[in-house]
Parts: sequence; C-alpha cells; structure tokens
Amino acid sequence: MTSATVVLQRCAELDRFSASATGLERVYLSREHALANERVADWMRAAGLRTWQDAAGNQCARREGREPGLPALLLGSHLDTVPDAGSYDGMLGVVMAVAVCERLAERTDELPFALEVIGFGDEEGTRFGTALMASRAVAGTWDDDWWDLRDRDGITLHKAFLNFGLDPRQVRQAARRPDELVGYLEAHIEQGPYLEAEDQSVGYVSSIAGARRFRMSVIGEARHAGGTPYDRRRDALTAASEAIVAIERLARPSGCLATVGRIESTPGAVNVIPGRADFSLDLRAATDAARDAMWDAIAKEISDVCQRRQVRFEHHETHRAPAVACADWLQQAVLDGITAAGGTRPLGLWSPAGHDAMAVSAATDVAMLFVRCFDGISHHPAEHVREVDVAVGLDAFEAAVLAVAEAVEKRTLLDSARSGA
Ligand code: GLV
Ligand code: MN
Ligand code: MN
Repeated sequence: MTSATVVLQRCAELDRFSASATGLERVYLSREHALANERVADWMRAAGLRTWQDAAGNQCARREGREPGLPALLLGSHLDTVPDAGSYDGMLGVVMAVAVCERLAERTDELPFALEVIGFGDEEGTRFGTALMASRAVAGTWDDDWWDLRDRDGITLHKAFLNFGLDPRQVRQAARRPDELVGYLEAHIEQGPYLEAEDQSVGYVSSIAGARRFRMSVIGEARHAGGTPYDRRRDALTAASEAIVAIERLARPSGCLATVGRIESTPGAVNVIPGRADFSLDLRAATDAARDAMWDAIAKEISDVCQRRQVRFEHHETHRAPAVACADWLQQAVLDGITAAGGTRPLGLWSPAGHDAMAVSAATDVAMLFVRCFDGISHHPAEHVREVDVAVGLDAFEAAVLAVAEAVEKRTLLDSARSGA
C-alpha cells in the first residue's frame, strides 16, 4: 500500500522534470510536463487504474466502481509549477489521489461511483499568463481567445498544443459533462500558516478566494537624469512606487490580499528618468464583492497619485475568477474523513490561494482537504510537508472518499423511495 513515505518520494522524483538546473520549473505543454505525465501515469497504472492523456494535456486515470460506466468521483490537483517552485504545490494532491485509489483497490466493488484521478497541466498560468486553462478545459469553459496567448519565447498556445502532440481543434473533448461526475475532491498543501498555528495536520476548505489580476502601466516621460530639475520630471517609477505602497496600505486592514509581484521600468538606464513603469497586481478576497470594492479603491488611489504626479495610468485585466464555495455535502465528507483519521476539532479555512477546484466547480461540486506545510511557505523551494501530516492526510482523504460513497448511497436510496412513493 502506498505510504506517506512513498508519496513524499514520488513528489521528490517529480522534481527531476524541471526546465531549470537550479530550481523547479515545469510549465504547461513543456517537455517536462510530458515527462511528469508519463511518470504519474506509471504510478496510476500500478494502482490499477486505466490511463489516458486528455485533449488538453491533463494526465487522467479511471477505475470503475461496482459496475462499469458509473459517474466518477474525480480526485486531483496540478503538475505544473511556478518558477523556482517547491515540490508539493499541486503535486502532493495528485500523488495522494493515486495513493488513495490504490488503498481503495480492494473496495472497488462497494463504490457507487468510478474513481478518477487527474493531474492538471496548467493551474499556475506560469507559461501563458492565464491560470487554470487545463482545468477549465475539463470544466467545459475553455476560451478560444486563449489560442493567441504567447509565452516569453513568442510561442502561441496554439503552437504549443501542436508541439505537445495535441490537436487544438479537439480541445473541447477534454470537457466533462456534469452528469458524468459525482464531484471533485482536491488535497493540497495549505500554503498558509493557520493549520500550523492550530497544531493540526489537516483541515477542510469552506471556500476559495475570488481573484482578479491586472497588468498596470504608469506612463511619464524619459529625460536626462542630470539635466531635469524635480519640478520638470514626470518619473513613472516613483509614481508606480507610490502606487504600490498605497496598494498595501489600502489592502492590509481590509482582509483582502493585494500583491505587486512584478515591475519593470523603461528604458531601464541608470542615468535616464524612467518614462514608463509596468507592474502586475494580484488581488484576492473571500468574496467577490470585497475584492471588487478593493479594486475600485485601488484604482481611484492610483489615478489620484498619477494625476498629482502628471503621469498617465493604464490598466488591463488579465484574469478574473469568482470566489467558489465548496459544496456543503462534500465539505461534510472531508470533515468526516478528518474525524475518521483521528481529528478531534477539524479546522475549516477559506483559501486565499487559487486551485483547480475553482475551475472544476463549473462542472461539478467540489471540496478540498488541506495538509499543513512548514511555516506556511509555498511558491518557494523551501516548501515542506511532514511525513506524519501526509500520513494523516492519506487516512483522511481515503475516509473522505468513503464518506462520499455513503452520502451517494443515501441520496440514491432517498431518490428511489421518493420515486416509488
Ligand atoms: C495559485 O497557486 C495561486 O493562488 O496563485
Ligand atoms: Mn501555486
Ligand atoms: Mn496549487
């Protein structure tokens, strides 16, 4: 039976499939993505699942339930990473899903659904700047506007599909119909400090943040750094800096999280006043209303800063994902799973981090199991999970699947009693 030790070994093994010699970077439709899919497929087959790669490059697997052709309970997470990533964000959930299927191999005949595992190819959006493309393909919300997106080498998404051996015309075949699915469960590291603070190995997720991302630009005027007195300057970088500090000032007390992760100044010479500054904004909140109100406040504040400094402010929204509530009945199953694994006071958390579950919720009910990670650190090579927490996570995830089975049985009995009445 796949143990927590093996789960952690497998996560470490996936580190080999990296585009960078000095850290982990594995992006959508890359050679490393193909290699990771192949290795995960080996483990899926060893767990007794039938495997295939779908039309969007996701690595999929299935084992029938007590009769063939039943709707599936989907277990999964993602195999792509941010640059200089840790070993667990996404991968842990895929590897745990495979392990849980293996543990349940003997009980297949009892399950009122098929079990499927999916390793999504694009959650982070590292390569093309748009997140969740692969899970949106599965949810049936693929957007044809994405085909012209380009990576930093100028390769379009369309070309990347062809290079990966996928037919862009077939991408909609990756979509799953709601009636083929019972629900979706995702295990994931918490990527925050709350389980650690409460000394809990695992927790369940109540909802996932609503997010918006923007490309922002401040346009001033490039001029000689020596010859231009301060009252003649229209310095784009100082205006952007003031804007960035204001973003933090506004967001900090609000409960929203606003991050400027990237900034570039042009022309970027030591002796030229910056004529242009381009920067990103990532904005998250527990509700869409809180997120949108924060964006309005930020946009007004930056406009005021720019007006005062006589520079121009432009912005373009690159990503918008609504907050997603985990389905009550699936949350309950995860909670029951945690209790069955020995949890005495399961902790419920909202997730400020984005997850494939957000996209999948367009097709079926979703819920998530969080596993404690060291110091809450993620999107960093120091990401770390303890074996003991993974062991509790595996027990809880397995028990959650059985709790889903029980809930489905009850619902079926109730439905047949009603239709017989
Ligand atoms: C995904 O990891 C995100 O929340 O940005
Ligand atoms: Mn991530
Ligand atoms: Mn993730």
